[in-house]
Amino acid sequence: MKRTGGLRLPRRISERVDSIKPSGIRKFFDLVMGRPDVISLGVGEPDFPVPWRIRDEMIYSLEKGITSYTSNHGLPELREEIARYYKKFGVRYVDPNNIIITTGVSEGIDLALRALINPGDAVLIPEPAYVSYKPLTILAGGEAVTIPTTPDFKPSYELLARFAKRCDPKAIVINYPNNPTGVSYSKKELEEIADLAIEFDLVIISDEIYAELTYSGKHVSIASLNGMEERTVILNGFSKAFAMTGLRVGYAIAPPDIAEAMLKIHQYCMLCAPITSQIGALEALRGCEEELDNIRAEYMRRRNFFVKRLSNIFEIRKPDGAFYAFPKIEGYGLSSEEFTERLLMDKGVAVVPGNAFGDCGEGYIRCAYAVTMEKLKEAVDRIEDFVKNL
Ligand SMILES: Cc1ncc(COP(=O)(O)O)c(C=O)c1O
Repeated sequence: MKRTGGLRLPRRISERVDSIKPSGIRKFFDLVMGRPDVISLGVGEPDFPVPWRIRDEMIYSLEKGITSYTSNHGLPELREEIARYYKKFGVRYVDPNNIIITTGVSEGIDLALRALINPGDAVLIPEPAYVSYKPLTILAGGEAVTIPTTPDFKPSYELLARFAKRCDPKAIVINYPNNPTGVSYSKKELEEIADLAIEFDLVIISDEIYAELTYSGKHVSIASLNGMEERTVILNGFSKAFAMTGLRVGYAIAPPDIAEAMLKIHQYCMLCAPITSQIGALEALRGCEEELDNIRAEYMRRRNFFVKRLSNIFEIRKPDGAFYAFPKIEGYGLSSEEFTERLLMDKGVAVVPGNAFGDCGEGYIRCAYAVTMEKLKEAVDRIEDFVKNL
């Protein structure tokens, strides 16, 4: 038998994996690498260092040689702390046994979807949405039913119900404050989603990773609304508010049956989140209130400056939270991708085309304002100049 040649490479890859596209954000990350002249408003990466107290705890634990596995669930002290912490967002009682420490919210999204989906189950995904919800739904064997929420970026009851009636969905994924729009939901708007969840018997996967970075009002978890705790998987983590992206630590709070199912997957594919990061996460919740207030205030200052300047150029909705602005670039005669590519080539400013977050994001761009004021000012000057010459 011939042992080389004749390989039919495309057939080696599973059809499911083959059917999904690489992330539209990473593409821009790669383009920017190695170009020091470029100001990157592309990737959602905080520019603050991890607060010193957190680093100090992690270093100390390493010096003591604490580098073992933890239980699959995660450190008990951390889970107890998270149960207490979530009262801040209105959830009065959380059993630490229903918390799983994950390797970032990314893993939590995957676990929740895999724990819930049978082949062909529909999952509602209001868009524009974080890039992983749709591919991870498809990888879990589900059908991603995307729902355009433009122009106000709010998934109203009427809108969601129209789609739910057509596909008999099993779950809905929501994210607020939202990546990429920065929009958050009021209690009344959350109640509409809760009504829909009850009517269609849905599980809500609620990605609250930007909860701490809420500038207008206060973050309320949908799990705090009547009857929602038993049908909500809360996902949150330490990447954004505590600038711990590379430490890969987050958590899921789920109803007991779903938590058990998620834990089964987690124990086989991840075993546990890194212990050093879990120790850092514990310090983040126990001792970093002041650092967090400073970080939040600085992002808010940047938002106010950046959005004011952008609003002289584009139609833009003031973001309620996270660190993204999502201006409308329609009317300049370029698609989102053309606009983004030319802005990068002509002016050295990297942003992400809105259609990376779903088809309805066409006509928008996402700008992450997680850079210094100096860079933001320079970036917005360059954007203004670019648009003037179009
Ligand atoms: C809405 C949302 N969810 C999840 C993630 C991934 O977070 P983590 O670093 O905790 O995996 C991101 C990162 O950008 C995000 O914006």
